[in-house]
Amino acid sequence: MRLASLIERRPRPHRSQAITARYHVDGSVAVITLDNPPVNGLGRDTRVGVAEGVDKALADPQVLGIVITGAGRMFSAGADIREFNTPKAKAEPRLQSLIGFIEASDKPVVAAIGGGCMGGGLELAMGCHFRIAAKSAPVALPEVKLGILPGAGGTQRLPRAVGVETALNMIVSGASVRAGDLESSALFDGLTDGDPLPAALAFALETAKESRPRKRLRDVVIGDPNAEGFLQFARNTVGPASKGYPAPLKCVDAVAAAVAKPFEEGLRVERAFFDDLVQTTESRALRHAFFAERAASRIPGIAEDAPTRTIERVAVIGAGTMGGGIAMCFASAGLPVTILEAKQELLDKGLATIRRNYDASVKRGKLQTAAAERAVALLTPTLSYDALAGSDLVIEAVFEDMGVKQDVFRTLDRAAKPGAILASNTSTLDLDRIAATTRRPQDVIGMHFFSPANVMKLLEVVRGAKTADDVLATVMRVSKTIGKTAVVSGVCDGFIGNRMIEQYLRQALFLLEEGASPPQVDRALERFGMAMGPFRMSDLAGNDIGWSIRKRRYVEKPAVVYSHIADRLCELGRFGQKTGLGWYRYQAGRRDALPDPAVDALIADYRKERGFAPRKLGEDEIVERCIYALVNEGAQLLDEGVALRASDIDVVYLAGYGFPRYRGGPMFYADTVGLYNVARTMRRFAANPHGDPGFWRPAPLLEKLVAEGKPFNG
Ligand SMILES: NC(=O)c1ccc[n+]([C@@H]2O[C@H](COP(=O)([O-])OP(=O)(O)OC[C@H]3O[C@@H](n4cnc5c(N)ncnc54)[C@H](O)[C@@H]3O)[C@@H](O)[C@H]2O)c1
Repeated sequence: MRLASLIERRPRPHRSQAITARYHVDGSVAVITLDNPPVNGLGRDTRVGVAEGVDKALADPQVLGIVITGAGRMFSAGADIREFNTPKAKAEPRLQSLIGFIEASDKPVVAAIGGGCMGGGLELAMGCHFRIAAKSAPVALPEVKLGILPGAGGTQRLPRAVGVETALNMIVSGASVRAGDLESSALFDGLTDGDPLPAALAFALETAKESRPRKRLRDVVIGDPNAEGFLQFARNTVGPASKGYPAPLKCVDAVAAAVAKPFEEGLRVERAFFDDLVQTTESRALRHAFFAERAASRIPGIAEDAPTRTIERVAVIGAGTMGGGIAMCFASAGLPVTILEAKQELLDKGLATIRRNYDASVKRGKLQTAAAERAVALLTPTLSYDALAGSDLVIEAVFEDMGVKQDVFRTLDRAAKPGAILASNTSTLDLDRIAATTRRPQDVIGMHFFSPANVMKLLEVVRGAKTADDVLATVMRVSKTIGKTAVVSGVCDGFIGNRMIEQYLRQALFLLEEGASPPQVDRALERFGMAMGPFRMSDLAGNDIGWSIRKRRYVEKPAVVYSHIADRLCELGRFGQKTGLGWYRYQAGRRDALPDPAVDALIADYRKERGFAPRKLGEDEIVERCIYALVNEGAQLLDEGVALRASDIDVVYLAGYGFPRYRGGPMFYADTVGLYNVARTMRRFAANPHGDPGFWRPAPLLEKLVAEGKPFNG
């Protein structure tokens, strides 16, 4: 066979490289458009596209200037997160190289920033000679939120563009600023009310024709006499405020290098910090959290663009603690909400509480008066189910009682329109039994909000045995509309979060029996990074909640060992903050948890009565026992299929239980410890004659992963 025919028969090379940067010439100006949906991430193909565009423009004698802009609503959100941890992320041309090509161009390069310009996107723009932006465009260097810092000159160029103080604030916080608010800085050469592209084209042409010198931010000398003082102030404040997070202080040091060192040296300092930070456990944890939150909204077997139902009108049944908060979530998002109660006075009371909450937000400056009024105007109180006929989504938040809830759903089945989604906010009850009272179990789903519902980010979306895919997809979409972090859970008592916390609290009580005190346990877990230790948390939530769950467990699971210390506390009416006394004592109107000798005496009496000889417990044991209790129950939930993935459990704990983000969530934390080591420590705890001997039996999944040498988050 001849060579030519062999070549012809060879399969055509598959063109996998998508066109993510377009090139065209407008008059005498080349326009390079970043076009990598959804956010014009600077993935390798895009970087290649820009580099090739620049080279093409330089080689074309007709082209006098170059404009770089973004397609759609963004300029660029920076690195393409889909390439994180892949060789493409580091493949040349890296962003630093690309910026070098642009800076070296002898034809002027102008960035036209019409929308979001973040991270690497802003670094690219700062590498251009000039920038024209829409006033409304948000700009930011948010890398700190992932435990790193800008690695392509951002910490060196931004202080040269906007001054040390503004740059430091932006880099340390990662917060975004409207371009219009930086008008007086050297960051922008022009600001527009609308699309900046026409102005950028004119600017590029004019600059080229006039042979104006190319401006390079790297050449700017920072001559701020207050820089040193401000840097010192920043070190003093950022250090203590960023406990557990290594990146913010490094951001300060990188900006200090911009002030004190020549540009190239500053770049080397920034790069060295970046390389160190990216390897820290904290940064890995923050990146895990970032990806885990995105993964949580994807449901296996349901396409991301799967059809969903339209939700325009919402109803809430029950205007109590949860119902009121849930109604606020939707009204604040601009959706009309009908609120149904059993009695007029309860309806009035519920509405009054909602109003008070909105007023308080206005007073604290968190909400504008007009926005609060708009939200309140969207609420329609009612005592009649007839008023629910137009609702697309009905959320039940009545008493936690199966009979009451089943009655409500039976009535809803008659009153709600066909296709309406019927949701329950139950914390513990079997959703499938609730759904079974209707003729439309496919439309029934759990929406487990956390208290206070208008504040807490977490929403567990409970998928019943018969819940339809489009109902699940719709609720996941709606959760975004109301700003919640939604995680799918299967049906079980306590779902993901509360089923795990029960084991954590059980362990905390065993620790008291063995010799620890509530403040000691709380301190250890707070030093670990928990927003609140278990006893302060119980006092806040109300000790009566745990008491009623335990009383149920004593009947349901008589073989399971529980400490009864907390029952003693509750028998004295010490329900926590709401009664002024709990594991701590509270002064009227204050939330500070004050140690109470009466509690120490109660614990001492209990130990004596049970014949427990107290011993000294170390902080490590306290933390390991409580956190590994979470981990083992988490593994059990994965085994049972209640949680879809380990990272979902992490999201639940980060968004709803004050788990430190820089530790990535309980399952990720266990991975960083090493599952072998976790299981080994659990075996040691199992040998402790105190407590429940079955407690530390590793979940089958944990055992399997240990045997295979694998992590939860593989
Ligand atoms: N409080 C929490 O921290 C929390 C957290 C998550 C979920 N939940 C769940 O939310 C639900 C409500 O809890 P809550 O704390 O808001 O209770 P709550 O007692 O504050 O409110 C319940 C409200 O429902 C009303 N109600 C009772 N039966 C009704 C009926 N048949 N028709 C109309 N209204 C009726 C009551 O009048 C009351 O106002 C429960 O299922 C609970 O398990 C509570």
